[in-house]
Amino acid sequence: MIEVRNLSVTYSSFSGKFVALDRVNLKVKKGGIVAVIGPSGCGKTTLLYAMAGILKNYTGDVLIDNAPINPSKHKIGLVLQDYGLLPWKTVMENSLLGLRVKKRVTLKEKKYAEYILSRMGLSHLTKRFPSELSGGQKQRVAIARAFIMKPDILLMDEPFSALDAITREEMQDLFLDVWKSESVSTLFVTHSTDEAIYLGENIAVMNGVPGKIVDVLENPLFGLRDVEDREVYWKLKSELKKLIKGK
Ligand SMILES: Nc1ncnc2c1ncn2[C@@H]1O[C@H](COP(=O)(O)OP(=O)(O)O)[C@@H](O)[C@H]1O
Ligand SMILES: [Mg+2]
Repeated sequence: MIEVRNLSVTYSSFSGKFVALDRVNLKVKKGGIVAVIGPSGCGKTTLLYAMAGILKNYTGDVLIDNAPINPSKHKIGLVLQDYGLLPWKTVMENSLLGLRVKKRVTLKEKKYAEYILSRMGLSHLTKRFPSELSGGQKQRVAIARAFIMKPDILLMDEPFSALDAITREEMQDLFLDVWKSESVSTLFVTHSTDEAIYLGENIAVMNGVPGKIVDVLENPLFGLRDVEDREVYWKLKSELKKLIKGK
């Protein structure tokens, strides 16, 4: 279980202090996936950075199985919108980066990496460099890398928003398929209601300045495609829109 308790973040800059997050509370059950949705600027990236330990200036707690999250002890997978691949390393080398920081890669880990890369449809591209890949392929490498490290938590920041609509749907399906078999606790940030409805077992809605979580909804449509003909889809969508706008 991942638990965020009363997490607040204040940025300090020349123009003074800015409260970005105000007492955010959130839970992700073991092997679960929660979608966080909210308008641009409400603090979604700030939340992930605090959880990932990139941003250290926060108050409140981030707990993994009741122990404070610790980037040197826990494995935190982070997938960003701009892929975060190292241009001078091949697909295989990039995929192993999450492991290499700590130690030599074992044969078992290498085999697992090959398995995940094949699940992500990348087996034939392992010797290529990022500049030789499409946007969708780059994002597949970034996601593969995150799975390969077997993270305690997977944090994803709008990973598909830079992709065209068709590639985005393919990537969502591919991600969900691997996620289901590997069962990794995941927090997924998006600004798309449809993506939240497809990829969130629960949907946490953020809004406002400072950002806070205004509601967490159960999602009966998780993992289902072609739901536009269902009444519950339109109800959920309009409820999400209202919550996002703060009405
Ligand atoms: N380093 C920073 N210094 C000051 N303000 C920041 C900094 N980073 C982000 N912000 C502000 O914090 C708010 C939340 O930003 P962010 O977490 O990126 O939102 P989101 O990901 O939801 O679009 C925004 O108003 C943004 O301008
Ligand atoms: Mg953001």
